[in-house]
Amino acid sequence: MITQEIWGKLSHDAETSGLKARLFRMSSSHSRLKLVLSDFGARVVSISVKGPDGSMRPLTATLSRLEDYETQPGYLGAVVGRFGNRIASGRFKLGGKEFVLFRNNGENHLHGGRLGFDRKIYSAELNDDNQNPSITFSAFSPDGEEGYPGNLEFSVNYSLVGDCGFRIDYRATTDADTPLNLTNHTYFNLNGRGNVESHVITTEASAFLPVDKGLIPTGEIRAVEGTPFDFRRGRRIADAVYADDEQVRIAKGVDHCFVFPGPDGFRERLSVYSPESGVKLRMLTDRPAVQIYSGNFMEEIEPALASGEKASARSAFCLETEGFPDAPNHKEFPDCVLKAGARFESSTAYIFEIPDQEGNNNDTQS
Ligand code: GLA
Repeated sequence: MITQEIWGKLSHDAETSGLKARLFRMSSSHSRLKLVLSDFGARVVSISVKGPDGSMRPLTATLSRLEDYETQPGYLGAVVGRFGNRIASGRFKLGGKEFVLFRNNGENHLHGGRLGFDRKIYSAELNDDNQNPSITFSAFSPDGEEGYPGNLEFSVNYSLVGDCGFRIDYRATTDADTPLNLTNHTYFNLNGRGNVESHVITTEASAFLPVDKGLIPTGEIRAVEGTPFDFRRGRRIADAVYADDEQVRIAKGVDHCFVFPGPDGFRERLSVYSPESGVKLRMLTDRPAVQIYSGNFMEEIEPALASGEKASARSAFCLETEGFPDAPNHKEFPDCVLKAGARFESSTAYIFEIPDQEGNNNDTQS
């Protein structure tokens, strides 16, 4: 089932001021998950799950008002693009031409610039099927927007998966070659409140990209072995973010691109488990990497979260599946260019396992 309501009117950016934003509530007779989405940024506003006692438990850090989403930093829940993460000095060369992007992160370009894909109003196509509901959000990014080449048409489809998960399918086409790195910036908290430092991340990622002081990859692809970033056998977020390590100091925690080993293909790459709530999150993707972000800058969010708490570092974590940050400036990184006339397709799924009353995890399927 999908219900929709007007959330409010945008007022922050000249390009979208006065436009209405809508909220969509998606649930299904087959799923314990409830997603609240918005056409403002094709955003995941909140994720909650029905617990064994029938009550709904939040699994995300969420803001209360539309204007908070417009004014606060952090890209909460939004789709990020045209190029998620950073491009050094907001410049790159493609086809022998130099392109200059909007710089919104010190001297660098972050998450698509000033009016990134997180700030657009999308058109919404609802598939209100009681068993398999889905919503496709579509938008357009004209040639030259934020400095990028090519008219880009793109869409993001959200669907419920199994009895406790959801999936995001990204699609895009362009009429000129352009860098493209679409992701989602949902802030998960498997306890629904407090901080996530006790959460345990497990991922097969065997390498990560060290960054400089501006959080731009240095170009090195470093093995995680022997570093605080070795999550291969499971590691608490606290054990990474409080480690005595230069990369941790630079990022104020974990805010790095983790590289998956081959072969490529859509499969489970990472999981997060909270020993307190017993909730587990499994992440499946066909992307070559994920930005694990331990919410290090969340204290910059001023209004209280919907939980009533003031946000602070580690109130939540993000799993931004991605191509490599700053790829347009690194020939040694996998190519992130969508060719004119080609079709970009990519999928990421987040599947939850919720303990039953006895505390056992119910296995859900993807
Ligand atoms: C990404 C970046 C972080 C930060 C957040 C938003 O995860 O890598 O450095 O900018 O977005 O606050």
